[in-house]
Amino acid sequence: MVGGGEGAFIGAVHRAAAGLDQAIELVCGAFASDAERSRRSGASLGLAPERCYADFDSMFAAEAQLPAGKRMEFVAIVTPNDLHLAVATAAFRHGFHVLSDKPATRSLAECFELRDSLKASGCLYGLTHPYGSYPLVVEAAERVRAGQLGTVRKILVEYTQGWLAEPIERRGQKQAIWRLDPKRAGLSSCMGDIGVHAFHLAEFVTNLRTTELCADLNSIVAGRELDDDGAAFLRFDNGARGVLVASQICTGDENDLRLRVYGDAASLEWRQQEPNSLWLKHAHKPVELVRSGGAGLGAAAHANSRLPSGHPEGYLEAFANVYRHFAAQVRAHGGNGNGNGNGGGPAPRAVPGITAALRGMAFIETVVAASKSPQKWHAFPNVAD
Ligand SMILES: NC(=O)c1ccc[n+]([C@@H]2O[C@H](COP(=O)([O-])OP(=O)(O)OC[C@H]3O[C@@H](n4cnc5c(N)ncnc54)[C@H](O)[C@@H]3O)[C@@H](O)[C@H]2O)c1
Repeated sequence: MVGGGEGAFIGAVHRAAAGLDQAIELVCGAFASDAERSRRSGASLGLAPERCYADFDSMFAAEAQLPAGKRMEFVAIVTPNDLHLAVATAAFRHGFHVLSDKPATRSLAECFELRDSLKASGCLYGLTHPYGSYPLVVEAAERVRAGQLGTVRKILVEYTQGWLAEPIERRGQKQAIWRLDPKRAGLSSCMGDIGVHAFHLAEFVTNLRTTELCADLNSIVAGRELDDDGAAFLRFDNGARGVLVASQICTGDENDLRLRVYGDAASLEWRQQEPNSLWLKHAHKPVELVRSGGAGLGAAAHANSRLPSGHPEGYLEAFANVYRHFAAQVRAHGGNGNGNGNGGGPAPRAVPGITAALRGMAFIETVVAASKSPQKWHAFPNVAD
């Protein structure tokens, strides 16, 4: 792991998620920018002192020297955004796979660099968009692909939080400070932090691709250099229209990611804060409530839950699904000699990878440009992986 030291947010979620199925072991890390804090963080996690590294460069160099059966197989990147590219490229140089948190990089140009060094390395790359791994989001995606909604005509995706409604970055709140600093966060704060999740969710569930957008980004709280609120109109490749709202100044909102997809035969609705329910709405019959682990689910949804219906699963389990599927990819790729290169396990399910990384960064870059421009519609960049 790189990042995720004392007091960090998402690193602890990654560790819990990685450990949930007892199939992935944390073996080493560079957990903080300061060597002493990094070592202390690793020690508190029970790691061997010699594998709590002062920085990520020395970690990759030292791990690459270890015997194949002992050395790390992949790295989880859970630092602020400004380090994602540097850590990933250093990992690839030493032949280590990467599971990175989002946004992939600070800009689309950086993401092209990431793509090129990934290609040159032959390694694997995954991006932790956990919302696509909830069982009922997987179910929703399957139902859209099976044609149950008919032709998708309208997509509404909203992601609202209230934690940045006040200027907490000026009171020393660590996660807020770097997210609102363009040098560390990149081109955007709110769109880069949560808008990109909403964008990925909309494209993943509908299997449609954005072709054009217009956008309005705002810094509602005075003194901020980057956006804390925004919205975009989207046009999709089948002609469907969409609205995406992302805001972190919605006082009182927690982590309210909500997706509605309207087809000409049926529609669906899913909310992250009630993740074990999926609503299907029909024109001429009663509303249908589909429950996680319950009757009528497809095999893919069942494969992404661990408990019977009525035993609520949530964020950690969805995150653990990303780890489970990424680990399956690593094993199918051959493992590192830890005895995991069996190739005979379950077929890996796609984890968001470099295509999702490029599309996410293209989304961020385009909404930022569109918001500053007097022109109404902006073409979505063609970002081949
Ligand atoms: N997928 C999700 O749902 C989700 C949720 C939250 C955050 N994130 C992403 O995760 C990343 C981290 O966010 P966070 O909220 O946990 O931030 P954070 O500030 O809580 O933690 C960042 C950690 O990185 C460490 N770090 C900084 N420089 C380092 C260096 N040079 N070497 C090693 N470690 C270093 C810090 O010491 C800290 O421990 C961000 O990219 C963010 O966008 C994703």
